[in-house]
Amino acid sequence: MKVLGIMGSPRIKGNTELLLDEALQGARSQQAETEKIVVDKLRISPCHEYYGCLRDGNCVIRDDMDDIYPKLLGTDAIIVASPIFFYAVSAQLKALIDRCQAIWARKYVLKNLDVPLRKGAFIAVGATKGEKLFEGPILTVRYFFKAINVDYVEELLIRGIDQKGEIKEHPTALADAFELGKRLVL
Ligand SMILES: Cc1cc2nc3c(=O)[nH]c(=O)nc-3n(C[C@H](O)[C@H](O)[C@H](O)COP(=O)(O)O)c2cc1C
Repeated sequence: MKVLGIMGSPRIKGNTELLLDEALQGARSQQAETEKIVVDKLRISPCHEYYGCLRDGNCVIRDDMDDIYPKLLGTDAIIVASPIFFYAVSAQLKALIDRCQAIWARKYVLKNLDVPLRKGAFIAVGATKGEKLFEGPILTVRYFFKAINVDYVEELLIRGIDQKGEIKEHPTALADAFELGKRLVL
């Protein structure tokens, strides 16, 4: 079983990446094969609405998304992890998500998206304790998952964590991430 982790934070070894690494470790503890994409290290243009994808399901922009599409479609499970930036996912991650309009076109317009329904999880971390902190990002990730044939089955949402690495002081978050990764592949 293959699990793809998408790391949406620009802060390397920050809270998001530490959580995602634990989740992927949990998946590996169940013999899953894992791969991590660090979105900030890639060259991913935002969507320009050229709408070439409506013709054949492929984006006309040539950049690092060329390698990401097959990974998104070829994996058995996916974990998206993001810091909360202004009540949203990071811009880097949102660019990747928006470029999946090409897969959305295959599913809903061309009706030729030939991938099974896979399992997906969302991990998010934000600094404040706002009640609605995760509402926008959850909707975004749910709709993203739906477009690429992924079922939103797990989430880990952590409030009140701001400084780099502060997540290590959280009483349960890293262990919870490990367990999430385990459950995702059972
Ligand atoms: C541009 C920016 C916007 C942010 N917006 C929010 C926000 O709206 N709500 C919040 O609770 N935290 C916000 N934060 C704080 C981050 O979510 C928090 O520091 C998080 O732990 C960073 O995770 P990381 O170490 O993985 O990057 C923001 C941080 C940045 C840099």
